[in-house]
Order: sequence, then structure tokens, then C-alpha cells
Amino acid sequence: MSLSGKLAVITGAGSGIGRAACNILARDGATIVAIDRIGASAAATIKPLGDSHLSLEVDVSSSDNIRAALNDTLKKYKKPPSIVVNSAGITKDNFLLKMSEQDFDDVINVNLKGTFLVMQNFAQAMVAHNIGGGSIVNIASIVGKTGNMGQVNYASSKSGVESMTRVASKEFGKFNIRVNAILPGFIKSPMTDKVPDKVKEIYLQSCALKRFGQPEEIAEVISFLASDKSSFVNGASIEVTGG
Ligand SMILES: NC(=O)c1ccc[n+]([C@@H]2O[C@H](COP(=O)([O-])OP(=O)(O)OC[C@H]3O[C@@H](n4cnc5c(N)ncnc54)[C@H](O)[C@@H]3O)[C@@H](O)[C@H]2O)c1
Repeated sequence: MSLSGKLAVITGAGSGIGRAACNILARDGATIVAIDRIGASAAATIKPLGDSHLSLEVDVSSSDNIRAALNDTLKKYKKPPSIVVNSAGITKDNFLLKMSEQDFDDVINVNLKGTFLVMQNFAQAMVAHNIGGGSIVNIASIVGKTGNMGQVNYASSKSGVESMTRVASKEFGKFNIRVNAILPGFIKSPMTDKVPDKVKEIYLQSCALKRFGQPEEIAEVISFLASDKSSFVNGASIEVTGG
């Protein structure tokens, strides 16, 4: 199996794309550390996978929480993960003219700063433990590239994640740690279930495949980027949108 013997930490693991990534990376042989702000959701993801995996309640916008998660991981596995997947994310949509400062800050703190903090802490551990062949996969979004009405906070955070990915890929290359981003289109998940039907219909018509994606269709690309099959893919932003 392509990920046999590898340890993977996945944020946002209690739902949607993060949960699908836990299932598919475990299928491909990885041991999973599932992280979510809602500890019970992360635990529910891990339960069917078995006792060799770990779930932790972590808010990715808190550096204290992330450091504690890293320590718990080191305690259990005696090594840091060589795969890091940043899937935790939130939306708080509103038109720019109406958006509150709090909603702007909340989305930036989870999506952008959270990705930074997780990358920084886990990559520091990889370097300290001489873990070569590392792979970090950040879930950005196609709207970071195209823009989207009502999502000035979210789209900016996701453009930031793409840019941060490129910087990290240049800095971490010498440690043999690759860093890539995935830009999903509209994927069916609890995050998108709250989008009004009228807006869903517009997305559907604009997609060449005329359907929404499933979380597993993102998770398969995560698994590819996590594995040595993508050993020369670095600093890339891969669109997975159905066209
Ligand atoms: N669903 C889509 O259409 C879509 C499209 C593009 C990008 N994305 C991105 O993919 C990622 C996953 O989205 P999803 O559709 O699975 O959403 P989701 O809402 O189903 O899952 C997100 C998970 O992140 C967790 N989370 C939120 N804030 C957190 C925090 N501060 N710390 C730790 N965990 C936290 C939530 O509890 C939840 O379990 C997000 O980054 C999202 O922006 C989703």
C-alpha cells in the first residue's frame, strides 16, 4: 500500500473532506492522528478505523492546542507525522459592505493562521526528528483564485493558503518535505449543505461535469500527494473542480 508505515495528522477530521481523508489514507496504509475542534467528531471518525489511530480535540487557531497535540502524538508514536493535511476550515459569509470585523478575523484565524500554525509546529518536529520524505497538503479553494461574492474573508484566506504553500515548498525543499495545495470546487459536505438551493444551481450549471464533487474525490488526491507517487510535485496548486 502506498502509505504503509506512515503517520498522518489530519485537521478538520470530524467531517466532510477531513473525515474522508482519514478513511482513504488509512485504507492506503497510514496511521491517522485525527484532529478537530469537536473532539467527539474526530473520535467518531477514528472509531471504525481501530485502536492504532488517535483522535484529539484541537482548535487549530490556538498554538497552545497545536503544541499539546504534537506532544500527545510524540508520546504515543515516538515520532512526528510525516504527512500533514490541513482541512480544518470555516465560512462566515456576508457582502463586503456588511461583513463584521469579527467574522473577517474568525475566518482568517482558522483557515489561514491555523494552517500556518499547524505547518510550523509539525514541520519543526519533522526537521528536529530528521523525517525525510514528508508531505504537507493544504486544502485551499478554487474561490481563492476566482473570487466569490459574499466570501471576502474566505476567498482571501484561501488565496493566502495557496501563497503560504508556495513559500513553505521553497523553504522546506531542502529538508525533503514537499508542500502542495488542493483547490476543490463545490464538494458535498456539511459546509456546503447550508448554501441556498438557488446558489447551488448556479454552481451546478457552471461545472463542466454538471455535478457536485464528493469528499472522497478530494481525499484520493490528498492520498496521491501524500504518497511517493507524487515525489516531484512540490509547491503546486491542484484544481479538483469537475472543470
Ligand atoms: N466543501 C466544499 O465545497 C469545499 C470547497 C473548497 C474548499 N473546501 C475546504 O475544505 C476544507 C474542509 O471542508 P469541508 O467541506 O469538509 O467542511 P466541514 O464543515 O464538513 O468540515 C470542516 C471541519 O473542520 C472543523 N473545524 C472548524 N474549525 C476548526 C478549528 N478551529 N480547529 C479544528 N477544527 C476545526 C469542523 O469542526 C469540521 O469538522 C475546508 O478548509 C474548506 O474550506 C471545501
